[in-house]
Amino acid sequence: MNRIDKLIGDMTLAEKLGQLTMTAAGYAVTGPVIAGDSTDAIRTGAIGNLLNLVGPGPVREMQRLAVEESRLGIPLLIGLDVIHGHRTLFPIPLAEACLFDPQAWELTACEAAKEAACDGLAMTFAPNLDVSRDPRWGRTAEGPGEDPWVGSQLAHAKVRGFQGASLASSDTLAACAKHFCAYGSVTAGREYATVDISERTLREVHLPSFVAAVEAGVAAIMPAFMDLAGVPMTANTALLRHYLRDQLGFDGVLVSDYNAIGELIRHGVAADLTAAAVLALKAGVDIDMMSDAYRCGLPVALERGLVSMAEIDVAVRRVLGLKERLGLFDDPYRRGSKIESPEAVAQRRRLARSVATRAMVLLKNDHDTLPLSDTLHRLCVIGPLADAAGEMPGCWSTCAVPEGQVSVVAGLREGLPQTRIATAPGVDIEGGDRSGIAAALELCNGADAILLCLGESATMSGEAASRAFPDLPGQQRALAEAVFERARAQRIRVTVILFSGRPLVVPWLAEKADALVAAWFLGSEAGNAISDVVTGRASPSGRTPITWPRALGQVPIFYSERPSGRPADSNDRFASKYLDTSSEPLYPFGHGLSYGRFTLANLRVTPQLVDEDGTIAISVDLTNEGKRAAEETVFLFTRDKLATVARPKLELKAVGKITLQPGETGTVNMNLRAFDLRFLGLDLAPVFEPGDVEILVGPCADRSRLLVGAVCLTAKPALKGAAQVSGPAMKR
Ligand code: GLC
Repeated sequence: MNRIDKLIGDMTLAEKLGQLTMTAAGYAVTGPVIAGDSTDAIRTGAIGNLLNLVGPGPVREMQRLAVEESRLGIPLLIGLDVIHGHRTLFPIPLAEACLFDPQAWELTACEAAKEAACDGLAMTFAPNLDVSRDPRWGRTAEGPGEDPWVGSQLAHAKVRGFQGASLASSDTLAACAKHFCAYGSVTAGREYATVDISERTLREVHLPSFVAAVEAGVAAIMPAFMDLAGVPMTANTALLRHYLRDQLGFDGVLVSDYNAIGELIRHGVAADLTAAAVLALKAGVDIDMMSDAYRCGLPVALERGLVSMAEIDVAVRRVLGLKERLGLFDDPYRRGSKIESPEAVAQRRRLARSVATRAMVLLKNDHDTLPLSDTLHRLCVIGPLADAAGEMPGCWSTCAVPEGQVSVVAGLREGLPQTRIATAPGVDIEGGDRSGIAAALELCNGADAILLCLGESATMSGEAASRAFPDLPGQQRALAEAVFERARAQRIRVTVILFSGRPLVVPWLAEKADALVAAWFLGSEAGNAISDVVTGRASPSGRTPITWPRALGQVPIFYSERPSGRPADSNDRFASKYLDTSSEPLYPFGHGLSYGRFTLANLRVTPQLVDEDGTIAISVDLTNEGKRAAEETVFLFTRDKLATVARPKLELKAVGKITLQPGETGTVNMNLRAFDLRFLGLDLAPVFEPGDVEILVGPCADRSRLLVGAVCLTAKPALKGAAQVSGPAMKR
């Protein structure tokens, strides 16, 4: 009999339910939680998992209680939201997505896991895979942006990075893909609101990244808070049990979101905690985070015959199985026993700086305003985010210490030691006080250049941070307008550094700034990375993973829309457009400038004919006609213009990158499996339809800037001697 079978045979009901319970340790160490003090509950085995416990000391003490003082000595599973770094913060996920670089995504997850495991943690509630097309929703900051292909690439990379080659290693964490699923489509961008989308959108947009996470071996998945068409995800048997477990074969742990099981009562699908516990257990949820529904409700449910001990044992087995894979039984103190060398931490900070440099998106750069001249005498850095080290990490930066964050001004002073740098906030991030604008304007007089550091605070995005007006908060517009006017009068160029957890709807700012950089929230090394870019030590290379609306009324706006029978680009009055604004975004998906100037030519697509088993080779030549070396990203889109289901105007299938010196020409080669040109047919099953498919390559999701080729998909040749079956007729 193996260890887990033996344990389950020995466990009391209370001990089993303890393994299905996760408690926020903010209560466990300092005060009573749920029922009684957690430390007692850990000693008795009534709590088997913790979250939000920080620091190797407290972690080791709680683990010791479980292992050395409880009856069965089952180790705790201790998790935390290590979303974009632990103590060393990397850019927020939406910013990191701008790299379009799975290797970098994997590396930062690997480094975050090392740092968190040193604190004794064994699980992270990440990656966040919520595809979002709505900047009103605050959690857009935590996800991969608008595109399911990017979400899938990010899922693979993050699971590999967090979990490494073995979960038993002292440097790895169990990843928890979240929030399953379609959370990014909450009604009106309002947090926790209902989601009601088509089955096709669910399968084409929101499920692919979770499929990728399961393929990558993700250890856990967290259902989302919200209901999907009236069925709360925490009780969604169809998607949790029948789809995730039965169809995809996911046999990892399902951990509820914070109190989500208890909230089934407020959703209106459970009369009480017992009913809520039954719904969640039957749906396949193994761990109850913070609602205590399992500990309080399942004993009653057992008595009433609403659940069986066998169903409880299945969940307990999955939780104990994860603890065994993590090596917690063999060595519960393996994580938290190592102190990292200063060089390891320094190396991590260098990585954070490099990734932050690459996460910035240069949205506009008129008159080559950037990079700043290296003979700059006087630089004026204005705005509430100019000297705001504490805001730089962004949302979900639980363990960031203020002294470990680099502000814009600090980074510039380090990067421009010969330059006189004057700074003033002018206004607060929020609030109505304009009294500081005059002093800020005085500083601008006679400056060689002005940097305007504007945007949101770190807490204005992330969880519970929906905004009905996702633009510049407070009196920042008043400050900006005044600075633009003063600068114009003195012919001083103004660069805006824009901090946000979402695309802000600021067309007026984009119009008036000479240069505009989307800095999102760049993490611990933000100031140094911004200094590297504005001084030209590094060329910006980030590309936006989400469309920037020109007006909030356009939302949801995304590149992969279906064409409509009256496309917006027709001159007909009766077309899919607005009376009062353009249908085009302010900046399209994939947009981003660099200090190079790239031209594309010679798109080659071979072979011209390919069946479902074939691979299509796509090549394109790029030339850097600019004055500086830079990295360029090219996107490979497809367009299936005639199918049994209307296909999107563009579908992203691959990304290529190349760094070129001024005047240099190079070739980007990408491969596309014909198999990946399948789509969901009328019955939502994958189909491969012969016919022509456009292949489009270029710098962003703007068709007018793409080189267009084509390939003809053919039906596979019938096997010799096999009965001739009538495959789908050639579509063209
Ligand atoms: C929060 C979030 C979830 C997080 C969990 C634990 O409410 O929805 O993303 O992992 O609770 O902090």
